[in-house]
Amino acid sequence: MYSYYCHCYYSVLWRYTRNLVDSGNDRFNLMALCWGEGHGSSVHDHTDAHCFVKVLDGQLKETMFDWPTGSRTRPASEHGGSDVDLDDAEEEPLRQKTTNYYDKDGVTYINGPDCR
Ligand SMILES: [Fe+2]
Repeated sequence: MYSYYCHCYYSVLWRYTRNLVDSGNDRFNLMALCWGEGHGSSVHDHTDAHCFVKVLDGQLKETMFDWPTGSRTRPASEHGGSDVDLDDAEEEPLRQKTTNYYDKDGVTYINGPDCR
């Protein structure tokens, strides 16, 4: 049985590390992401991307937010750009929608609005 632990490099200098395991013939990336206890990624979306996650060790907390309304913040897929437009004057607080916890061997699928 193959072990992915040999790809799991983590440094306390970073909030998390992304370790490329396989570039999948340029069709996908298989990565081993490593967070320290209590660390996390910044809020982000998965526009135009499919993302499968399996927890190899520890516990993962996933917090999902409603997409802001009434602001100029939009998914990149709606305006053809690669970044999100953000107008500080119209910024609004994110509203938490759901929180999911995944233990070791837990699996989840994350996608963007265009991947349904
Ligand atoms: Fe992500």
